Amino acid sequence: MKILVTGGLGFIGSHTVVELQNEGFEVVIIDDCSNSSEEVLKGITAISGKTPIFEKIDLKEKESVSDFFKRHDDIQGVIHFAASKAVGESVEKPLLYYENNIATLVYLLKELSNKDNSNFIFSSSCTVYGQADKMPITEDAPVKPAESPYGNTKQIGEEIIRETCKVTDGLNAIALRYFNPMGAHPSAEIGELPIGVPQNLVPFITQTGVGLRQELSVFGDDYPTSDGTCVRDYIYVVDLAKAHVQALQRLLERKNSENYEVFNLGTGKGSSVLEVIHSFENVSGEKLNYKIVDRRAGDITEAYADTTKANEVLGWKAQYSLDEAMKSAWDWEQKIRSQS
Ligand SMILES: NC(=O)c1ccc[n+]([C@@H]2O[C@H](COP(=O)([O-])OP(=O)(O)OC[C@H]3O[C@@H](n4cnc5c(N)ncnc54)[C@H](O)[C@@H]3O)[C@@H](O)[C@H]2O)c1
Repeated sequence: MKILVTGGLGFIGSHTVVELQNEGFEVVIIDDCSNSSEEVLKGITAISGKTPIFEKIDLKEKESVSDFFKRHDDIQGVIHFAASKAVGESVEKPLLYYENNIATLVYLLKELSNKDNSNFIFSSSCTVYGQADKMPITEDAPVKPAESPYGNTKQIGEEIIRETCKVTDGLNAIALRYFNPMGAHPSAEIGELPIGVPQNLVPFITQTGVGLRQELSVFGDDYPTSDGTCVRDYIYVVDLAKAHVQALQRLLERKNSENYEVFNLGTGKGSSVLEVIHSFENVSGEKLNYKIVDRRAGDITEAYADTTKANEVLGWKAQYSLDEAMKSAWDWEQKIRSQS
């Protein structure tokens, strides 16, 4: 079965390609390498012994998308990761984000709407909940006004898919709301490759650990949490990748109860920034250079998932601990720095 993975050279996409190939799917990747490189194909091949088909296409080019589907009319499912994801940049350049995250989604859905049968998985985010009123967060928690154009593209993206599914027989879709993805493949062949200053906590920690950054700033220790620092739900990227395979299989086997469904993907456990730092110190044996600074505008206090729906309906559960995920991130960081 042929599956299209957009953004398949990126962080979560590449791990998902590995899991799909391990399950016997034939994978075609579309990526424009705007936030990744063709080198990632080597890592995927080294792990799974198979090289996916790769087409370097910018999904903003509508004609290229159309042409792709003409040439691959046997695609059975699409997992759509391709998007721009830097929250700060989205505030500076909102139109870039609306074009890259929304226009591309529309072009893909237009192609899929022309087919008798299509299955679509969308990368959404827990940012849609903002600061939820209740922890852990269930899928029916209200969607809060977005804090950034990036966050807004996830909310609008979900709406577009939901409304398209309503009027399109044969289109089945699942939106997966990720909490905080982290880590790398245990082989250290693929992992997160942030360009410039990392936006996420874990690569910032490992880059500080390896000496690439001098110091980690912890934004605020006066939040109403156990140790005063912000709490998030860190989900290992390999666990996350496996959830995509389960979601795809659910659609392919027509086990979905509605033609548009939403699932939270997290561990169900919140970890504070200091707990994540201690996990790093524990697995690496290194002391991390960090300091507490003032709160940062826009940060919420806490977010962790109620994973009951994913556990019971999707049949998926995160398997790896924070320390295991952290160890993989540290191994990856050391490997890439030893090569550069
Ligand atoms: N990493 C996170 O913390 C996180 C959290 C929640 C949701 N998400 C979402 O998950 C998805 C994947 O995230 P990631 O962390 O793997 O990001 P990533 O940047 O590593 O991967 C995205 C990939 O898409 C490609 N891409 C971007 N625009 C493209 C275009 N116009 N045409 C073709 N390819 C394009 C990039 O080159 C990159 O390889 C994104 O939609 C992101 O918004 C990520």
